[in-house]
Amino acid sequence: MKNTNDQYWSQRWRENNTPWDMGTVSPPLSGFLQGLYNKKQHILIPGAGNAYEFDWLYTNGFENAFVLDIAREPLQNIARRLNGRGTANLLHADFFTHEGRYDLIVEQTFFCALPPGMRPEYAEKMYELLKPGGMLFGVFFDFPLTEQGPPFGGSKSEYLGYFEPYFRIHKLERCYNSIKPRAGKELFFTFVKA
Ligand SMILES: C[S@@+](CC[C@H](N)C(=O)[O-])C[C@H]1O[C@@H](n2cnc3c(N)ncnc32)[C@H](O)[C@@H]1O
Repeated sequence: MKNTNDQYWSQRWRENNTPWDMGTVSPPLSGFLQGLYNKKQHILIPGAGNAYEFDWLYTNGFENAFVLDIAREPLQNIARRLNGRGTANLLHADFFTHEGRYDLIVEQTFFCALPPGMRPEYAEKMYELLKPGGMLFGVFFDFPLTEQGPPFGGSKSEYLGYFEPYFRIHKLERCYNSIKPRAGKELFFTFVKA
């Protein structure tokens, strides 16, 4: 694997050291996903963790929704929750070497978990994985980037620098429906591959 941090993440999962995990679908993701109508579209949730949104998608007939994580543990959690349904859609892989073509990719606390030096590569890889007209959507943190992390912070202007070369920026604005601990610290975005 190109990204050698799989042991770090597996260990965090095994120790239940997962403070990012909300135990449910976050309101910004939920609001957007409920507006989707094309159930045939190919959806990827990378750096997915427990991906509670996958349960909603899969049980609502989005059969081409896929979860991808470098750690096995969260994928096992999902398989248990869904009593083994949808296991073919659970991909144990490194995002950066994954190959596929998607209409929609979901971001939540994956970008901020990566070493900040990988951000340009993340933007390029998202572009590669999306079909023309495809969309990357989700939430980015909006607090100062320091040495501390994960989660690593960032700002709107920094993010534009990575994504504008590849995407039409439809939306990148403060979330109105973040959970309390993240209120004022999240940006909701939709970026479209031209
Ligand atoms: C902070 S957690 C976020 C989980 C989930 N998105 C959420 O919001 O609850 C980051 C996740 O990314 C996974 N991850 C880290 N590097 C990865 C990589 N290169 N490819 C795929 N998954 C990765 C970790 O195993 C972890 O589950």
